Amino acid sequence: MSASKIIAPPYRNYYRQRTANQWRKIPAERGDPSAIRPFLAGNWKMNLIPRAGVALAARIFDLCRDIKDVDMGFAPPFTGLSTLADYIEPDFLRREYGIGRNVFLLAQDTFFESKGAFTGEISADMLAAIGVDRVIVGHSDRRANLGKYFGFSSSVARRLSKNFLTHTFTQLKSREQQLHPQVFAAIEHLLDEQNSDVLAGLATFLETELNERAGESDDAIQRKVQAALANGVQVIFCCGENKEARRAHETFNLLERQIRMGLEGVARHTMSEVIIAYEPIWAIGEGAQPAPLEQIAEVHDFIRNLLMDLYGEQIAARVRILYGGNVKPDNIAAMMQLAGVDGALVGGASLNAADFAKIIRFGLPDAV
Ligand code: 13P
Repeated sequence: MSASKIIAPPYRNYYRQRTANQWRKIPAERGDPSAIRPFLAGNWKMNLIPRAGVALAARIFDLCRDIKDVDMGFAPPFTGLSTLADYIEPDFLRREYGIGRNVFLLAQDTFFESKGAFTGEISADMLAAIGVDRVIVGHSDRRANLGKYFGFSSSVARRLSKNFLTHTFTQLKSREQQLHPQVFAAIEHLLDEQNSDVLAGLATFLETELNERAGESDDAIQRKVQAALANGVQVIFCCGENKEARRAHETFNLLERQIRMGLEGVARHTMSEVIIAYEPIWAIGEGAQPAPLEQIAEVHDFIRNLLMDLYGEQIAARVRILYGGNVKPDNIAAMMQLAGVDGALVGGASLNAADFAKIIRFGLPDAV
């Protein structure tokens, strides 16, 4: 679908219907309380000290005065949450900018235990206590890349070096420790001079694999979803495939696994507290291209049909499914035209007030 084919401005509020196996948006009156409201959320990732975050939000509100028909969300790093919570107090926003209850405070992550010896982690009840409305769970930055950040993959690769294995092997032998005979035989095999290529290949293979995959598991994400909902914090549940999965035509299998596992145990009546964000990893970040509209439409319909299997048509029609991955002022309107898209999770462009304001104002003229 090219921009030139877009004739009508996208509906900013709508109902969703499914007829002849197709999802459609039906326009609703502006301000109709039961209509679906798009959600435009900025994920600031690891950017902005608290004061800078407030300054950015203030510039955005100034450019979005009186906009009440869409929901906007801001996800500062943990350190910025309290300061922003204080600034976005609804009465103040209403007086100052003519907006208010449509502004949501988002956290970028949470831990699943409520308290204890988990240095550096933040629990969902701690987030709730400082006024966080929603939390992003399962972002690909965390699902896929933690191994790379924390050096887990290189520490595994180091253990597959000749030196490390020789040293360990000698130690184990001298201590006469009980070692599984198969493990013993495998190490001996890998240390054989003839097999040095196998050892090097295995180390490289595991390092590469873990770099891409040693982040949060589906299981951990499921526990985070449960913890957030149990503490009254809504969930923005992220899913998305990497480029290898797309090339191997594994996209739908992978998304189905992520969604089934992530949402396992979320009851029908709780699905109103869940927003889904489809963020294909290959479309995220500087230098990448947003997913083509056809692919966004196809995946959003797939996710909605899966939700229909899991929760029934009525719930599937209402769950908001956001798209994320290089959403910019010049592509948001076309994305919002798609029947399955209910908003966006925006990285880079959410750090620029003019850009994010244009995204929030999709389909409307720019603020003067
Ligand atoms: P970009 O908008 O910078 O591609 O980031 C998308 C994202 O990861 C939002 O969570």
